[in-house]
Amino acid sequence: MKLGVNIDHIATLRNARGGEFPSPLHAAFTVLEAGAFNVTCHLREDRRHIKDNDIRLISEQTKRLNLEMAANDEIISIALEVIPRSITLVPEKRQELTTEGGLNVVLDIEKYKKINDKFRSKGINVSAFIEPEELQIEAAKKAEFNFIEIHTGKYAQYLDPLKRYEELTRIKKAAEFALNIGLKVNAGHGLNYENTRDIAEIAGIYELNIGYSIVAHAVFTGLDNAVKEMLDIIKTAGLINNCGKLK
Ligand code: PXP
Repeated sequence: MKLGVNIDHIATLRNARGGEFPSPLHAAFTVLEAGAFNVTCHLREDRRHIKDNDIRLISEQTKRLNLEMAANDEIISIALEVIPRSITLVPEKRQELTTEGGLNVVLDIEKYKKINDKFRSKGINVSAFIEPEELQIEAAKKAEFNFIEIHTGKYAQYLDPLKRYEELTRIKKAAEFALNIGLKVNAGHGLNYENTRDIAEIAGIYELNIGYSIVAHAVFTGLDNAVKEMLDIIKTAGLINNCGKLK
């Protein structure tokens, strides 16, 4: 099972100061070097984190971009120009903090089929982010997606163990159903260091897409070193002259 790391929140941090740092491209190389298979970025209509140039650079330089996007004409034409390795179509609402529900493919099979034709003709894998429901999975197959991504958000949110178990069972059944009709299956949303194991045990899932928990965890696994490196600079400042030699 592979891991796609969503780095949107590296861009959130970068945008907080309006400069170039921390760079999503740098983050993309870092997660790939650490063993991730894909770098996922969501180019939102409001560009609240990832910007057009981020996806251009990441796609060109890593060839490992999974572009999350709404089925919006402007974003579709950018994606057709950038040619990411894969795209994941998601529903998008302006006011939401993060993607809320799955895509309703059932309602718009023909629309998605047309979009998918364009992407598939460029060799781009197409995935639909959907709830673990047979009707949506069948519709995704009809609309000629080759992947689905099962929304694990509800599973991740349930605190009640019974509800969580029931949702996990729904996800397992959905994954099995999708695999049986020839779709490749990814999963993601809300996965963290406590709830990922049960999902990772589901047979046949191709890739998990995880973002927020990894970026948040990196703050604490990296903060210690970041402070030590700065202290080193401060401590040695009085000892070393401008040419790097001991005073
Ligand atoms: N998969 C999809 C389709 C998403 O929209 C997101 C959030 O951008 C993720 C996975 C990752 O979710 P999280 O940041 O909660 O790990």
